[in-house]
Amino acid sequence: MIVQHNHPLNALNTFGISARAAQLVRIQSEDDVQAWLSDPLHRSAPSLILGGGSNIVLTGDVKSVVLKVEIMGRRLVSEDDKSWVVEAGAGESWHDWVEWTLSQGWPGLENMALIPGTVGAAPVQNIGAYGVELQDRFDSLDAMDLHTGERFTLRAEHCGFGYRDSVFKHASAPGPLDWGQSSGEIRSMGLAGRVLITRVRFRLPKVWRRDISYLDLSRKAEACGNLNPDAKTVFDWVCEIRRSKLPDPKVVGNAGSFFKNPTVSAEQCADIIARDPGVVHYVLADGRFKLAAGWLIDACGWRGKTLGHAGVYEKQALVLVNRGDAQHPCTGGEVITLAKAIQTSVYERFGIRLEMEPVLV
Ligand code: EPU
Repeated sequence: MIVQHNHPLNALNTFGISARAAQLVRIQSEDDVQAWLSDPLHRSAPSLILGGGSNIVLTGDVKSVVLKVEIMGRRLVSEDDKSWVVEAGAGESWHDWVEWTLSQGWPGLENMALIPGTVGAAPVQNIGAYGVELQDRFDSLDAMDLHTGERFTLRAEHCGFGYRDSVFKHASAPGPLDWGQSSGEIRSMGLAGRVLITRVRFRLPKVWRRDISYLDLSRKAEACGNLNPDAKTVFDWVCEIRRSKLPDPKVVGNAGSFFKNPTVSAEQCADIIARDPGVVHYVLADGRFKLAAGWLIDACGWRGKTLGHAGVYEKQALVLVNRGDAQHPCTGGEVITLAKAIQTSVYERFGIRLEMEPVLV
Protein backbone atom coordinates (compact mmCIF):
# COMPACT_ATOMS: atom_id res chain seq x y z
CA MET A 1 0.00 0.00 0.00
CA ILE A 2 1.48 3.33 -1.08
CA VAL A 3 0.34 6.50 0.73
CA GLN A 4 1.08 9.90 -0.83
CA HIS A 5 0.42 13.21 0.90
CA ASN A 6 -0.88 16.47 -0.58
CA HIS A 7 -1.09 14.77 -3.95
CA PRO A 8 -2.25 16.70 -7.06
CA LEU A 9 -5.35 15.25 -8.72
CA ASN A 10 -5.13 17.13 -12.06
CA ALA A 11 -3.92 14.09 -13.95
CA LEU A 12 -6.30 11.78 -12.07
CA ASN A 13 -9.56 13.35 -13.29
CA THR A 14 -10.35 13.48 -17.02
CA PHE A 15 -11.90 16.96 -16.70
CA GLY A 16 -8.39 18.11 -15.76
CA ILE A 17 -9.58 20.19 -12.81
CA SER A 18 -6.85 21.30 -10.38
CA ALA A 19 -7.31 20.02 -6.85
CA ARG A 20 -5.30 18.13 -4.25
CA ALA A 21 -5.91 15.15 -2.03
CA ALA A 22 -4.57 15.45 1.52
CA GLN A 23 -3.86 11.70 1.29
CA LEU A 24 -3.87 9.41 -1.72
CA VAL A 25 -3.66 5.68 -1.08
CA ARG A 26 -2.77 3.44 -4.03
CA ILE A 27 -4.59 0.11 -3.76
CA GLN A 28 -2.84 -2.53 -5.88
CA SER A 29 -4.18 -5.75 -4.34
CA GLU A 30 -6.75 -7.18 -1.94
CA ASP A 31 -3.97 -7.22 0.68
CA ASP A 32 -3.60 -3.46 0.23
CA VAL A 33 -7.29 -3.08 1.11
CA GLN A 34 -6.70 -5.08 4.32
CA ALA A 35 -3.61 -2.98 5.11
CA TRP A 36 -5.65 0.18 4.58
CA LEU A 37 -8.43 -1.05 6.87
CA SER A 38 -5.96 -1.64 9.70
CA ASP A 39 -4.24 1.75 9.16
CA PRO A 40 -5.13 4.33 11.85
CA LEU A 41 -5.85 6.87 9.09
CA HIS A 42 -8.77 4.73 7.97
CA ARG A 43 -10.63 5.33 11.24
CA SER A 44 -9.93 9.07 11.30
CA ALA A 45 -11.19 10.11 7.85
CA PRO A 46 -13.82 9.09 5.30
CA SER A 47 -12.59 7.73 1.99
CA LEU A 48 -13.34 8.35 -1.65
CA ILE A 49 -12.81 5.60 -4.23
CA LEU A 50 -11.23 6.76 -7.47
CA GLY A 51 -10.98 4.75 -10.68
CA GLY A 52 -10.06 6.53 -13.91
CA GLY A 53 -11.58 9.82 -12.67
CA SER A 54 -13.70 9.99 -15.83
CA ASN A 55 -17.05 10.50 -14.17
CA ILE A 56 -16.33 13.06 -11.45
CA VAL A 57 -16.22 16.82 -11.09
CA LEU A 58 -13.87 18.03 -8.36
CA THR A 59 -15.33 21.09 -6.68
CA GLY A 60 -12.30 21.72 -4.44
CA ASP A 61 -9.49 19.97 -2.60
CA VAL A 62 -10.56 16.54 -1.40
CA LYS A 63 -10.73 16.20 2.38
CA SER A 64 -11.50 12.49 2.28
CA VAL A 65 -8.68 10.00 1.81
CA VAL A 66 -8.59 9.12 -1.89
CA LEU A 67 -8.33 5.38 -2.57
CA LYS A 68 -6.92 5.03 -6.08
CA VAL A 69 -7.77 1.54 -7.30
CA GLU A 70 -4.88 0.04 -9.29
CA ILE A 71 -5.62 -3.69 -9.07
CA MET A 72 -4.51 -5.23 -12.36
CA GLY A 73 -4.83 -8.61 -14.07
CA ARG A 74 -6.67 -10.14 -17.04
CA ARG A 75 -7.58 -13.79 -17.41
CA LEU A 76 -9.94 -16.35 -18.84
CA VAL A 77 -11.74 -17.80 -15.83
CA SER A 78 -13.69 -20.57 -17.53
CA GLU A 79 -15.39 -21.58 -20.73
CA ASP A 80 -18.13 -23.98 -21.73
CA ASP A 81 -20.01 -24.67 -24.97
CA LYS A 82 -21.92 -21.43 -24.70
CA SER A 83 -19.56 -18.75 -23.39
CA TRP A 84 -16.23 -17.51 -22.12
CA VAL A 85 -16.06 -15.98 -18.66
CA VAL A 86 -13.24 -13.44 -18.53
CA GLU A 87 -12.01 -11.35 -15.60
CA ALA A 88 -10.19 -8.04 -15.24
CA GLY A 89 -8.71 -6.28 -12.22
CA ALA A 90 -10.62 -3.13 -11.27
CA GLY A 91 -7.66 -0.90 -12.12
CA GLU A 92 -7.36 -2.03 -15.76
CA SER A 93 -8.15 0.60 -18.40
CA TRP A 94 -11.60 -0.18 -19.83
CA HIS A 95 -10.62 0.42 -23.45
CA ASP A 96 -7.40 -1.63 -23.19
CA TRP A 97 -9.47 -4.44 -21.69
CA VAL A 98 -11.99 -4.34 -24.57
CA GLU A 99 -9.15 -4.38 -27.11
CA TRP A 100 -7.38 -7.26 -25.32
CA THR A 101 -10.48 -9.48 -25.13
CA LEU A 102 -11.00 -9.00 -28.87
CA SER A 103 -7.37 -9.81 -29.61
CA GLN A 104 -7.77 -13.07 -27.66
CA GLY A 105 -10.72 -14.03 -29.86
CA TRP A 106 -13.41 -13.27 -27.27
CA PRO A 107 -15.73 -10.69 -28.85
CA GLY A 108 -18.71 -9.05 -27.18
CA LEU A 109 -17.47 -5.79 -25.69
CA GLU A 110 -16.67 -4.01 -28.99
CA ASN A 111 -19.66 -1.62 -28.94
CA MET A 112 -18.26 -0.19 -25.70
CA ALA A 113 -14.80 0.56 -27.12
CA LEU A 114 -13.07 3.80 -26.15
CA ILE A 115 -15.25 4.56 -23.13
CA PRO A 116 -12.85 6.33 -20.76
CA GLY A 117 -12.29 5.01 -17.25
CA THR A 118 -11.41 1.76 -15.53
CA VAL A 119 -12.98 -1.69 -15.38
CA GLY A 120 -13.84 -1.24 -11.69
CA ALA A 121 -15.80 1.94 -12.38
CA ALA A 122 -17.74 0.37 -15.27
CA PRO A 123 -20.39 -1.42 -13.16
CA VAL A 124 -20.86 1.63 -10.91
CA GLN A 125 -22.59 3.62 -13.64
CA ASN A 126 -23.43 0.62 -15.83
CA ILE A 127 -21.54 2.14 -18.76
CA GLY A 128 -23.05 1.75 -22.18
CA ALA A 129 -22.73 2.87 -25.77
CA TYR A 130 -23.99 2.04 -29.25
CA GLY A 131 -26.77 -0.25 -28.12
CA VAL A 132 -24.90 -2.31 -25.50
CA GLU A 133 -24.65 -1.78 -21.75
CA LEU A 134 -22.25 -3.37 -19.29
CA GLN A 135 -25.15 -5.31 -17.72
CA ASP A 136 -25.66 -7.13 -21.05
CA ARG A 137 -22.22 -8.78 -20.73
CA PHE A 138 -21.82 -8.82 -16.93
CA ASP A 139 -21.23 -12.06 -15.04
CA SER A 140 -20.24 -11.09 -11.48
CA LEU A 141 -17.80 -8.99 -9.50
CA ASP A 142 -15.63 -9.33 -6.42
CA ALA A 143 -15.66 -6.57 -3.86
CA MET A 144 -14.55 -5.88 -0.32
CA ASP A 145 -16.55 -4.39 2.53
CA LEU A 146 -14.71 -1.21 3.56
CA HIS A 147 -15.92 -1.55 7.15
CA THR A 148 -15.09 -5.18 7.83
CA GLY A 149 -12.66 -6.21 5.08
CA GLU A 150 -14.92 -9.10 4.16
CA ARG A 151 -14.57 -10.32 0.57
CA PHE A 152 -17.68 -11.25 -1.34
CA THR A 153 -19.05 -11.79 -4.85
CA LEU A 154 -22.07 -10.03 -6.34
CA ARG A 155 -24.03 -11.20 -9.34
CA ALA A 156 -26.16 -9.02 -11.63
CA GLU A 157 -29.29 -9.48 -9.51
CA HIS A 158 -27.48 -7.88 -6.54
CA CYS A 159 -26.24 -4.87 -8.50
CA GLY A 160 -29.52 -3.10 -9.33
CA PHE A 161 -28.34 -2.12 -12.81
CA GLY A 162 -30.38 0.54 -14.60
CA TYR A 163 -29.65 3.20 -17.18
CA ARG A 164 -26.33 4.68 -15.97
CA ASP A 165 -27.22 3.42 -12.51
CA SER A 166 -26.45 0.68 -9.99
CA VAL A 167 -26.53 -0.08 -6.28
CA PHE A 168 -22.95 1.32 -6.10
CA LYS A 169 -24.23 4.84 -6.84
CA HIS A 170 -26.70 4.99 -3.97
CA ALA A 171 -25.96 6.03 -0.39
CA SER A 172 -25.36 3.08 1.88
CA ALA A 173 -27.23 2.30 5.05
CA PRO A 174 -25.18 2.57 8.25
CA GLY A 175 -24.52 -0.54 10.33
CA PRO A 176 -23.30 -4.02 9.49
CA LEU A 177 -24.18 -5.62 6.18
CA ASP A 178 -24.74 -9.32 5.69
CA TRP A 179 -23.50 -10.38 2.25
CA GLY A 180 -25.48 -13.58 2.50
CA GLN A 181 -28.77 -11.65 2.27
CA SER A 182 -31.14 -11.92 -0.65
CA SER A 183 -30.40 -9.92 -3.78
CA GLY A 184 -33.41 -7.68 -3.13
CA GLU A 185 -32.16 -6.81 0.35
CA ILE A 186 -28.65 -6.01 -0.92
CA ARG A 187 -30.11 -3.87 -3.72
CA SER A 188 -32.21 -1.86 -1.32
CA MET A 189 -29.24 -1.11 0.94
CA GLY A 190 -27.23 1.10 -1.43
CA LEU A 191 -23.49 0.43 -1.44
CA ALA A 192 -21.90 3.79 -2.36
CA GLY A 193 -18.69 4.32 -0.39
CA ARG A 194 -19.26 1.06 1.40
CA VAL A 195 -17.56 -1.40 -0.91
CA LEU A 196 -14.49 -1.42 -3.10
CA ILE A 197 -14.82 -3.38 -6.34
CA THR A 198 -11.65 -5.43 -6.88
CA ARG A 199 -12.38 -7.61 -9.97
CA VAL A 200 -15.11 -7.80 -12.60
CA ARG A 201 -16.10 -10.82 -14.70
CA PHE A 202 -17.87 -10.79 -18.05
CA ARG A 203 -19.76 -13.57 -19.81
CA LEU A 204 -19.14 -13.41 -23.56
CA PRO A 205 -21.33 -15.75 -25.63
CA LYS A 206 -19.51 -17.97 -28.13
CA VAL A 207 -22.27 -17.41 -30.65
CA TRP A 208 -21.44 -13.79 -31.35
CA ARG A 209 -24.24 -11.53 -32.51
CA ARG A 210 -23.29 -8.20 -34.01
CA ASP A 211 -25.34 -5.26 -32.78
CA ILE A 212 -25.21 -2.45 -35.31
CA SER A 213 -28.78 -1.31 -34.72
CA TYR A 214 -27.70 2.04 -33.24
CA LEU A 215 -28.28 4.67 -35.94
CA ASP A 216 -24.64 5.83 -36.18
CA LEU A 217 -23.49 2.22 -36.69
CA SER A 218 -26.17 1.23 -39.21
CA ARG A 219 -25.35 4.37 -41.20
CA LYS A 220 -21.67 3.46 -41.11
CA ALA A 221 -22.46 -0.07 -42.31
CA GLU A 222 -24.40 1.32 -45.25
CA ALA A 223 -21.72 3.88 -46.07
CA CYS A 224 -19.06 1.13 -46.07
CA GLY A 225 -21.26 -1.29 -47.97
CA ASN A 226 -20.63 -3.86 -45.25
CA LEU A 227 -23.80 -5.01 -43.51
CA ASN A 228 -22.09 -8.00 -41.86
CA PRO A 229 -19.03 -6.57 -40.14
CA ASP A 230 -16.96 -8.77 -37.83
CA ALA A 231 -16.35 -7.76 -34.22
CA LYS A 232 -13.02 -6.04 -34.98
CA THR A 233 -14.69 -3.95 -37.68
CA VAL A 234 -17.48 -2.93 -35.27
CA PHE A 235 -14.75 -2.00 -32.76
CA ASP A 236 -12.98 0.14 -35.40
CA TRP A 237 -16.26 1.83 -36.41
CA VAL A 238 -17.17 2.62 -32.80
CA CYS A 239 -13.70 4.14 -32.24
CA GLU A 240 -14.02 6.19 -35.41
CA ILE A 241 -17.53 7.46 -34.56
CA ARG A 242 -16.57 8.33 -30.99
CA ARG A 243 -13.42 10.16 -32.13
CA SER A 244 -15.47 12.20 -34.59
CA LYS A 245 -18.03 13.46 -32.08
CA LEU A 246 -16.56 13.14 -28.58
CA PRO A 247 -13.48 15.01 -27.30
CA ASP A 248 -10.39 13.01 -26.32
CA PRO A 249 -9.93 13.73 -22.59
CA LYS A 250 -6.15 13.74 -23.11
CA VAL A 251 -6.59 16.77 -25.38
CA VAL A 252 -9.74 18.50 -24.06
CA GLY A 253 -10.75 17.82 -20.45
CA ASN A 254 -14.27 16.37 -20.11
CA ALA A 255 -16.32 13.78 -18.23
CA GLY A 256 -18.24 12.25 -21.15
CA SER A 257 -21.98 12.84 -21.24
CA PHE A 258 -22.70 15.37 -18.54
CA PHE A 259 -26.44 14.65 -18.29
CA LYS A 260 -28.53 11.52 -18.53
CA ASN A 261 -31.00 11.23 -21.39
CA PRO A 262 -34.35 11.98 -19.68
CA THR A 263 -37.37 9.69 -19.77
CA VAL A 264 -40.83 11.22 -20.25
CA SER A 265 -44.40 9.93 -20.54
CA ALA A 266 -46.00 9.39 -23.96
CA GLU A 267 -48.20 12.49 -23.33
CA GLN A 268 -45.22 14.67 -22.45
CA CYS A 269 -43.36 13.44 -25.51
CA ALA A 270 -46.34 14.16 -27.79
CA ASP A 271 -46.60 17.63 -26.29
CA ILE A 272 -42.93 18.35 -27.01
CA ILE A 273 -43.16 16.93 -30.55
CA ALA A 274 -46.17 19.20 -31.21
CA ARG A 275 -44.03 22.20 -30.34
CA ASP A 276 -40.65 20.89 -31.58
CA PRO A 277 -41.17 18.22 -34.26
CA GLY A 278 -37.42 17.63 -34.56
CA VAL A 279 -36.93 16.36 -30.99
CA VAL A 280 -34.89 13.12 -31.02
CA HIS A 281 -36.87 10.47 -29.10
CA TYR A 282 -36.89 6.69 -28.67
CA VAL A 283 -39.77 4.58 -27.40
CA LEU A 284 -38.96 2.34 -24.41
CA ALA A 285 -40.33 -1.11 -23.63
CA ASP A 286 -42.76 0.34 -21.05
CA GLY A 287 -44.27 2.83 -23.53
CA ARG A 288 -42.43 5.81 -22.09
CA PHE A 289 -39.98 7.79 -24.23
CA LYS A 290 -36.32 8.62 -23.86
CA LEU A 291 -35.25 11.99 -25.26
CA ALA A 292 -31.76 12.91 -26.46
CA ALA A 293 -30.52 15.40 -23.85
CA GLY A 294 -27.86 16.58 -26.34
CA TRP A 295 -30.61 17.60 -28.74
CA LEU A 296 -32.53 19.48 -26.00
CA ILE A 297 -29.39 21.37 -24.94
CA ASP A 298 -28.49 22.09 -28.56
CA ALA A 299 -32.02 23.38 -29.20
CA CYS A 300 -31.56 25.83 -26.33
CA GLY A 301 -28.53 27.25 -28.16
CA TRP A 302 -25.80 25.99 -25.83
CA ARG A 303 -23.62 24.02 -28.27
CA GLY A 304 -20.18 25.66 -28.52
CA LYS A 305 -20.93 28.23 -25.76
CA THR A 306 -18.49 29.07 -22.93
CA LEU A 307 -19.20 30.34 -19.43
CA GLY A 308 -16.12 31.19 -17.36
CA HIS A 309 -13.62 28.50 -18.29
CA ALA A 310 -16.17 25.75 -18.83
CA GLY A 311 -17.79 25.15 -22.19
CA VAL A 312 -20.21 23.05 -24.20
CA TYR A 313 -18.47 20.88 -26.81
CA GLU A 314 -19.02 22.09 -30.39
CA LYS A 315 -19.81 18.65 -31.82
CA GLN A 316 -21.96 17.20 -29.02
CA ALA A 317 -23.88 19.46 -26.64
CA LEU A 318 -24.18 16.70 -24.02
CA VAL A 319 -20.48 17.00 -23.22
CA LEU A 320 -19.12 19.83 -21.08
CA VAL A 321 -15.45 20.63 -21.56
CA ASN A 322 -12.55 22.34 -19.83
CA ARG A 323 -11.67 25.58 -21.61
CA GLY A 324 -9.11 26.72 -19.04
CA ASP A 325 -5.33 26.80 -19.31
CA ALA A 326 -2.39 26.90 -16.90
CA GLN A 327 -2.88 30.64 -16.21
CA HIS A 328 -6.68 30.50 -16.09
CA PRO A 329 -7.68 27.04 -14.86
CA CYS A 330 -11.23 25.81 -15.07
CA THR A 331 -12.72 25.19 -11.62
CA GLY A 332 -15.34 22.67 -10.62
CA GLY A 333 -17.51 25.61 -9.54
CA GLU A 334 -17.48 26.96 -13.10
CA VAL A 335 -18.51 23.58 -14.48
CA ILE A 336 -21.43 23.40 -12.03
CA THR A 337 -22.49 26.98 -12.82
CA LEU A 338 -22.60 26.11 -16.53
CA ALA A 339 -24.44 22.83 -15.85
CA LYS A 340 -27.07 24.63 -13.75
CA ALA A 341 -27.56 27.32 -16.41
CA ILE A 342 -28.16 24.56 -18.97
CA GLN A 343 -30.61 22.80 -16.64
CA THR A 344 -32.53 26.05 -16.18
CA SER A 345 -32.76 26.70 -19.95
CA VAL A 346 -33.94 23.18 -20.71
CA TYR A 347 -36.50 23.32 -17.90
CA GLU A 348 -37.85 26.69 -19.00
CA ARG A 349 -38.22 25.61 -22.62
CA PHE A 350 -39.23 21.93 -22.31
CA GLY A 351 -40.34 21.49 -18.68
CA ILE A 352 -37.72 18.75 -18.24
CA ARG A 353 -35.23 18.57 -15.39
CA LEU A 354 -31.94 17.17 -16.68
CA GLU A 355 -30.07 15.00 -14.23
CA MET A 356 -26.28 15.34 -14.05
CA GLU A 357 -24.36 12.14 -14.72
CA PRO A 358 -20.94 12.71 -13.10
CA VAL A 359 -20.49 12.60 -9.34
CA LEU A 360 -19.71 15.94 -7.70
CA VAL A 361 -16.85 15.59 -5.22
N1 EPU B 1 -27.83 15.57 -30.89
C1 EPU B 1 -28.03 16.85 -31.34
N2 EPU B 1 -27.18 17.83 -30.91
C2 EPU B 1 -26.15 17.57 -30.08
C3 EPU B 1 -25.95 16.27 -29.60
C4 EPU B 1 -26.81 15.27 -30.02
O1 EPU B 1 -28.95 17.12 -32.09
O2 EPU B 1 -25.43 18.51 -29.74
C5 EPU B 1 -28.69 14.48 -31.36
C6 EPU B 1 -27.91 13.57 -32.32
O3 EPU B 1 -27.94 14.05 -33.63
C7 EPU B 1 -28.63 12.26 -32.16
C8 EPU B 1 -29.14 12.29 -30.74
O4 EPU B 1 -29.06 13.64 -30.29
O5 EPU B 1 -29.73 12.21 -33.03
C9 EPU B 1 -28.36 11.37 -29.82
O6 EPU B 1 -26.96 11.68 -29.88
P1 EPU B 1 -25.86 10.54 -29.80
O7 EPU B 1 -26.15 9.45 -30.76
O8 EPU B 1 -24.53 11.21 -29.90
O9 EPU B 1 -26.04 9.88 -28.39
P2 EPU B 1 -26.39 10.50 -26.97
O10 EPU B 1 -27.75 10.06 -26.58
O11 EPU B 1 -26.11 11.94 -26.95
C10 EPU B 1 -25.56 8.42 -25.62
C11 EPU B 1 -24.70 8.17 -24.42
C12 EPU B 1 -23.22 8.21 -24.81
C13 EPU B 1 -22.98 7.15 -25.86
C14 EPU B 1 -23.90 7.42 -27.05
C15 EPU B 1 -23.82 6.30 -28.07
C16 EPU B 1 -25.93 8.97 -22.49
C17 EPU B 1 -26.08 10.02 -21.45
N3 EPU B 1 -24.98 9.17 -23.39
O12 EPU B 1 -25.31 9.75 -26.05
O13 EPU B 1 -22.47 7.87 -23.65
O14 EPU B 1 -21.63 7.16 -26.28
O15 EPU B 1 -25.28 7.47 -26.63
O16 EPU B 1 -24.41 5.16 -27.53
O17 EPU B 1 -26.67 7.99 -22.47
C18 EPU B 1 -21.26 8.74 -21.78
O18 EPU B 1 -22.07 8.13 -21.07
O19 EPU B 1 -20.34 9.43 -21.30
C19 EPU B 1 -21.43 8.69 -23.22
C20 EPU B 1 -20.64 9.39 -24.05
